Amino acid sequence: MLLNTLKKLPHNILFNKPLSLFSSSMSLQQDEAKAHWNSKASTYKDSYETLTLAPAITLANMLEIQKSQDIIEVACATGIFTLHLLRNLTNTKTFTSVDISDQMIELAKARKAATEGINHDIKHEFFVGDAENMSFIQDEAVDVYVSSMCIHMVPDESKFLQEAKRILKKGGRIGLTVPSKENGLMGLFLKNFEDNGWKSPFPKDYNALGYRDVMIKLLQDNGFEVRFCWEDHMKLPYYEDSDIDNQLTNGPMGGIYGGFDQETKKKVRDNVLKEFHEIKKQFIPFQMKTVAIVAQKPL
Ligand SMILES: C[S@@+](CC[C@H](N)C(=O)[O-])C[C@H]1O[C@@H](n2cnc3c(N)ncnc32)[C@H](O)[C@@H]1O
Repeated sequence: MLLNTLKKLPHNILFNKPLSLFSSSMSLQQDEAKAHWNSKASTYKDSYETLTLAPAITLANMLEIQKSQDIIEVACATGIFTLHLLRNLTNTKTFTSVDISDQMIELAKARKAATEGINHDIKHEFFVGDAENMSFIQDEAVDVYVSSMCIHMVPDESKFLQEAKRILKKGGRIGLTVPSKENGLMGLFLKNFEDNGWKSPFPKDYNALGYRDVMIKLLQDNGFEVRFCWEDHMKLPYYEDSDIDNQLTNGPMGGIYGGFDQETKKKVRDNVLKEFHEIKKQFIPFQMKTVAIVAQKPL
């Protein structure tokens, strides 16, 4: 359905490359999401993962994940956080990692097989599945549901949360992170894309959840009791110009950049780098702002 909508949009918005826009991770239907994320799997490790591990670990601490026995991780991608948990959890009995992309799951499995120091007492399984419908998980099966950087991309976030509520035990906790476009990397890129004529063709703004009050209301509206919610930052490693190029090409917004013609690409890159150098000169840590929330299914 979304593909048909995209085909009807003017080419100057789509840059003649509608599929590339999927890299901007807007709300995609299941097949489109799967195809999009499969296409991202091989570069995931060197682009997204450099950003996303830190907020996931903060979220795990907020969830007191170490105390829990049955955990589900939704949107595990290529498994860096999965492996972190498998190496560090000591009280857990079962742990399930789910992602909609079969290629992400294949890479995560290969990585797990090559990793030392895993706690093999944990019964851990990978599943290819959609967060909005995980019929392979029984009702009230887990006491912690953790999902970093996913809910903002699904077609229906209430369906996502209702499914989470179904599989959580009463009193179980959910932890989510979402990106914010304010400040940092995301804002820098989006501002420059918009300055050069890019307008999102998608009906849904995927940054719309990146505010504390929005996330608190969303969780409350879906019957959760909110325990913590705060802004966090993905602390980026020390970035060189080549890291900016890698993010522009392979990172979360790479599809938008890939859609510009050569001349506009150069303009965007030059300007992004100019602003990035200014930030560096002022010794402002380069980062990406996120919102992290922990809530409970009522007893
Ligand atoms: C931005 S990445 C975040 C991955 C990881 N949690 C992290 O923080 O690095 C989004 C992930 O969500 C997965 N995903 C997208 N839609 C999904 C859905 N409906 N159900 C399950 N996984 C989904 C993608 O395949 C991708 O691996």
